[in-house]
Amino acid sequence: MKVAIVGVSGAVGQEFLRVLDERDFPVDELVLFGSSRSAGRVYVFRGKQCTVKELKHNDDFKGIDVAFVSAGGSTSVEFAETITQHGTVMIDNSSAFRMDADVPLVVPEVNPEDALDRPRGIIANPNCSTIQMVVALKPLEDISHIRRIHVSTYQASSGAGASAMAELVKQYEEILKGEEPTIEKFAYQLAYNVIPHIDVFTDNGYTKEELKMHNETRKIMHSDVEVSATCVRVPVIRSHSEATWIETERPISVDEARKAFSNAEGIILQDDPSKKEYPMPLFVAGQDPVYVGRIRSDIANPNGLTFWTVSDQIKKGAALNAVQIAEYLIKVKNI
Ligand SMILES: NC(=O)c1ccc[n+]([C@@H]2O[C@H](COP(=O)([O-])OP(=O)(O)OC[C@H]3O[C@@H](n4cnc5c(N)ncnc54)[C@H](OP(=O)(O)O)[C@@H]3O)[C@@H](O)[C@H]2O)c1
Repeated sequence: MKVAIVGVSGAVGQEFLRVLDERDFPVDELVLFGSSRSAGRVYVFRGKQCTVKELKHNDDFKGIDVAFVSAGGSTSVEFAETITQHGTVMIDNSSAFRMDADVPLVVPEVNPEDALDRPRGIIANPNCSTIQMVVALKPLEDISHIRRIHVSTYQASSGAGASAMAELVKQYEEILKGEEPTIEKFAYQLAYNVIPHIDVFTDNGYTKEELKMHNETRKIMHSDVEVSATCVRVPVIRSHSEATWIETERPISVDEARKAFSNAEGIILQDDPSKKEYPMPLFVAGQDPVYVGRIRSDIANPNGLTFWTVSDQIKKGAALNAVQIAEYLIKVKNI
């Protein structure tokens, strides 16, 4: 396969290099792209040096089978035609095309076949918070239809990119030295704080990040489920956590849920309160699966179940999910 990574210098772009190598993805040739800021930089992939090319409107994508794109929404919109015009499959990490009717939104554990119908040659990777939630919801939906979801997220600083991750570390250093912390990437100081504000506010009081969890979940699961989310930035470097309450058509017992999670693809059950076993971002960072724990029947709702998930949002929430989509296309001989 001839593979491209667009936005290779970023948090997700760097993860693509690791994930492609780790999973033995069949790369015959790798072409790296960035803006003029990172053009010329050299990265090593499987012992070979690759120089970053500046992304431009030309024929650089001719012959490339798949492009993993993580350079922000405006870049995706501007370059989609350039990337796909010669038949390259564009797997896009931005939110630019996710809700477009002619762009499939895919999580391989949930709706892999949707990736086969891509009239524009674009497949969208969902929002990182949505990905881990739908992976956990799928085995429960298979037992009883999920009618309603309330979810509260605890999102790591790296969710806002490599420079946001660096800003959190810098803030702790500055505060320890008695200096004023630098605040550029977040609305407030994140060190020693939590910020209930991710992406911009909309007219109904929810943020765009929160509405993504509603809209994207329905599209991926082909479901009429209602999702009410509160998305919160927390001073964690890597891996998002989520507290989720679901209401199903018939009650799902804790035992049924544990069994379903244990047998599900992409999930590790970590749920033994007597041994203080539950997932935490510190230990999940760098791992592939979605970890699930703290499973309880909801005492406030007879048809309710509540649980806690943690997953590395740069890995399963971005690069790994995209690579798994490409692996699925290779498996079914679609690319
Ligand atoms: N971080 C996460 O956890 C996460 C999870 C899921 C999805 N995403 C999405 O993935 C995308 C990238 O996020 P990130 O966290 O990796 O951001 P990031 O660390 O800020 O990196 C942004 C990347 O985009 C490149 N870029 C920006 N403008 C460009 C242009 N005009 N042409 C070519 N490359 C350009 C940058 O290259 P230069 O160095 O050359 O500027 C850099 O490589 C975003 O759409 C984000 O929403 C991120």
